Amino acid sequence: MKKNTVATFGEMKAKGEKISMLTCYDYSTARLMDNSGINGVLVGDSLGNVMLGYEDTLSVTMEDMITYGASVARGCKNTVVVVDMPFMSYQISAEQALANAGRIMKEARANAVKLEGGKEVAGQIKAITKAGIPVMAHIGMTPQSVNAFGGFKVQGKTEETARRIIEDALAVQEAGAFAVVLECVPFDLVAYISEILAIPTIGIGGGNGADGQILVYQDMLGMFSDYVPKFVKKYAGIGEIMTKAFDDYDREVKSQIFPSREHGFMIDKEIMNKLRKQGVRDESCSKN
Ligand code: KIV
Repeated sequence: MKKNTVATFGEMKAKGEKISMLTCYDYSTARLMDNSGINGVLVGDSLGNVMLGYEDTLSVTMEDMITYGASVARGCKNTVVVVDMPFMSYQISAEQALANAGRIMKEARANAVKLEGGKEVAGQIKAITKAGIPVMAHIGMTPQSVNAFGGFKVQGKTEETARRIIEDALAVQEAGAFAVVLECVPFDLVAYISEILAIPTIGIGGGNGADGQILVYQDMLGMFSDYVPKFVKKYAGIGEIMTKAFDDYDREVKSQIFPSREHGFMIDKEIMNKLRKQGVRDESCSKN
């Protein structure tokens, strides 16, 4: 299996090869993804939705990202592990951003961090990358700004907003980001930005003009039905398979089909007979 690094992303763009990424939040799933051809996994703050059941990502903490990030990093040998910086862990200043990016690298053992925003976080990206920490930027529909957007809405449909996204893409590249996620941006705009940038673009809901793609893994496996965005393609019905397995287990436990002898450990019959014959009395009970 080929070892991927952040440099692999740039090399793949240069060769015209598409980059595959999925989100990942735990060790077992990380092992499976690491054994596939996936180039990178993102421990996204979307864990706030799919793992913790929040309505948005705003309540996710540094501790959450480090716990989930470390479990994924322990499972990945070949795949690049990018860990999201949660809301308010980098917006205040370049110093705050650098300190928290450093914690993610040291405590979660990530290969890179990701943060949301364009021009307004260029200073933070510069400070982090200057310290030798690779940064993936994230522009377009940035979920941590859901309240400013008034909902999870497509960004860049008007000339003015499209220009702003182009400027943001150029700004994060200039600041030193090794790649940039473009979320919910129209297809042609993603294709254009991918042409003018030297760094790879990773699209989500932005069509195949991007240099790579990312999806939330529970969405593409059909495991999360609270809300399924239009851009998700379902690659498997794992949710249905899990529900059927849970129902089968429930039925077998109640009808005593499970566990059968093959699923346990036996004791010599004679030892058991002896124990039964002698009986074991609880002293405190026998006094009453
Ligand atoms: O948090 C996340 O999962 C993300 C991806 C959707 C890009 O930021």
